[in-house]
Amino acid sequence: MNTKRKQIFAGNWKMYTTQREAVNLALGIAEGLQKTDREIVIFPPSVYVVCVKAACEGTPIKVGFQNMYFEKEGAFTGEIGPLMVKDTGASYVLIGHSERRHIFGETDEMIHKKVVAAIAHGITPMLCVGELLEEREAGKSESTVETQIVKAFEGLTAEDALKVVIAYEPVWAIGTGKVATPEIAQSMHAFIRKTLQTLYTDTVAETIPVLYGGSVKPDNIAGLYAMPDIDGVLVGGASLKVQSFLDIIRVAL
Ligand code: PGA
Repeated sequence: MNTKRKQIFAGNWKMYTTQREAVNLALGIAEGLQKTDREIVIFPPSVYVVCVKAACEGTPIKVGFQNMYFEKEGAFTGEIGPLMVKDTGASYVLIGHSERRHIFGETDEMIHKKVVAAIAHGITPMLCVGELLEEREAGKSESTVETQIVKAFEGLTAEDALKVVIAYEPVWAIGTGKVATPEIAQSMHAFIRKTLQTLYTDTVAETIPVLYGGSVKPDNIAGLYAMPDIDGVLVGGASLKVQSFLDIIRVAL
C-alpha cells in the first residue's frame, strides 16, 4: 500500500451467479461498505452488468466487464465491443485475464488491441499479467511478465499508459488456494514498476496502480496489502460472498 497511488479492490465473479444472486451480491456489498476512498470495482458476468449497474446506482461501486472485443462494431457474432461496454455505463474492463489467455487462446497482440480500444473509448483497462507454474519453475517469471507488459503497452503514449491499471496474477495462484507470499508478490510488483520506468518515466512507474490477484482471502490480505508496491487486489472466489469480500475491502481501514 502506498496511499499516493489509487487503491483498488476488485471482484471478478467469472462465470458464476444467477441474475438474482448477482444483484443481491452487489446490494449486499453496497450496504456493508464503509466510507472509503478506495475504489471498489465488481466484474459480474456480462449479461448482468446492466442490472448490477442499476443496483449500484448512488453507491461508490464501479462496475466492469470481464472481457471485450477490440473492434468498434461489426459482424463478430457473440462478441461485445467497446461501444456497448461504454453504453452500459461500465467504467472498467478486465483485459488478458489468465483464463482468457490460457483457455481461450488470447495472444499478446489481441490483448494489446483490447487495451488500445478500451482507452480510445474511455474505459479503464485492468490488464492482467502473470506467469505459469512452469515459467516460475524455469526462472522465467520476470521475463514472461515483462514481455506481457511490453507488448500490451506497445506504442502507447505516457498519457495513455497512465490510464491503465495492472493486475499481477500468477497463474499458479488463481483458484488454487496457493497464494503468492507477500514477498514474492512484492518482488514482482517492484519489477513491474521497473519495467514501466524503462518504458516510460519514473512518474508513470510510480503512478500506475498494480493490484495482486490469486487466492486472495480475508486471512491473507493483510500481509499482501502491507507491501509497498501492492495497491489493492483482484479477487475471484472470495468476492462471491458479501462477507468475505467486505472483510478483504476493510483490511487496515
Ligand atoms: P481467485 O481468482 O481469487 O479465485 O484465485 C482470482 C482471479 O482470477 O482474478
